[in-house]
Order: sequence, then C-alpha cells, then structure tokens
Amino acid sequence: MREVLPEGGVIRKLWIGETARYRDHLLRLDPESRRARFGGGVADDFVRRYVETTTGLDAIVHGFFVEGAMRGAAELRSLGAGLLGQAEAAISVEKSWQSHGVGSALLRRTLLAARNRGYRLLHMACLAENRRMQQLARKFDAELSFDFDSVIGEVESSRPTPLSVMRELMSDHHGFATAMLDLQSRILRA
Ligand SMILES: CC(C)(COP(=O)(O)OP(=O)(O)OC[C@H]1O[C@@H](n2cnc3c(N)ncnc32)[C@H](O)[C@@H]1OP(=O)(O)O)[C@@H](O)C(=O)NCCC(=O)NCCS
Repeated sequence: MREVLPEGGVIRKLWIGETARYRDHLLRLDPESRRARFGGGVADDFVRRYVETTTGLDAIVHGFFVEGAMRGAAELRSLGAGLLGQAEAAISVEKSWQSHGVGSALLRRTLLAARNRGYRLLHMACLAENRRMQQLARKFDAELSFDFDSVIGEVESSRPTPLSVMRELMSDHHGFATAMLDLQSRILRA
C-alpha cells in the first residue's frame, strides 16, 4: 500500500550510530505526548537512559525523517526469551507532525516487521484516555486486535510469507538509499 506522508518526509529504519537522533526526537516531545508515550511523566534523564537500553536490546526502530530530523518513531522490542513470540511496540510523533498520517504509516511498518519476525503478540502500553492511539489502532483492526482495558494489542497476522518479507526488504532498500543521501547532505553542510 502506498503511504501518504507529509511532503519531504520519509520513513526508514534507524541505522547503527543514529541513536542520538532517536533520543533528541523523544526529548522534543511536548509534555502531553511524552506522558502518553511513556505512560506517565518522565524526566529528561529517564528518556536518555531509556534510549541507551534500546540500543542494547536489539530493538527495531523506524523513524520518520524530515530534512534529516527525526520527527516520529516506532519502536519494536522483543520481550525476551522467556516470552517467545512476544514484543512491545511504542509510537511517538512530534506535535506539529501529528494527524498527518505519520503514526499510521509507522504502525504499518512495525506490524510488518513484527510479522516477519514471528511475533504473534504485540504489547502496546496505552493510557486509557489516549483516544488518538486507540483510533489509530482501530485502523488496523484486521491485523491487530486491541483490548484497551488490558492495554495489550495482539498481532493476528499469520506467518510471514515470501511477499511480506519482500515488502520489508524493499522498504529497507529504499530506506538505505535515503539514509545515504541524508548522510551525504549532512557531510556537505558541515
Ligand atoms: C498516537 C500517535 C502516535 C498518532 O500519530 P498520528 O501521526 O497523529 O496519527 P495519524 O495521523 O496516522 O492518525 C491516525 C488516526 O488517529 C485519529 N486521529 C488523528 N488525529 C486525531 C485527533 N486530534 N483526535 C482524535 N483522533 C485523531 C484518526 O482516526 C486517524 O485516522 P484517520 O487518518 O483515518 O483519520 C501520536 O498522536 C503521538 O505520538 N501521540 C503521543 C504519544 C503516544 O500517544 N503514543 C502512543 C503510545 S504507544
């Protein structure tokens, strides 16, 4: 499915060495969005430590980039060997970029990545009053069943197929080319 994103925006996986861009994005979230993202008010130091653990946990982070700045993110973390086939997902979009389809596009990519890694159960911590996230999840009814009382979303998609793997590979290929162009323009600007 073709993604409609705000002009100039691209979604791609975060590459090794780009953690600072993820940290800066999370630190830029307005207080309300930060609270919604982390399930409560958290200090800057908490956010910094949180991002450090992300790099050590083999997480997959998709970023939404505009002119080299990360304005949105979706993180997929395995819940570890004890909870095989289960993962946690979390999405964040900076205020000025909300309600433009970015969250939907990020969740779509994350569901594909979850499916291709055989995750059947996806936990998404979501505050009960977070109507926006609930609306967003409902758009994926066919793939994701949500129970907002228990705050757990279940990925119902079946096993990965060659086509679903191919879709992710094609996105990665495009994402890599975009990351290289971005790097080149940052080098030229420096
Ligand atoms: C929740 C969040 C990720 C959604 O991202 P987004 O880019 O605003 O979402 P989209 O633009 O793709 O909108 C998805 C759906 O949300 C609903 N929505 C959008 N704006 C809304 C608003 N102001 N109020 C209520 N629902 C709204 C719509 O139903 C929309 O579907 P549509 O495009 O078919 O109309 C984003 O608002 C955010 O980062 N919030 C703070 C952090 C957070 O809550 N994270 C979730 C915890 S894991």
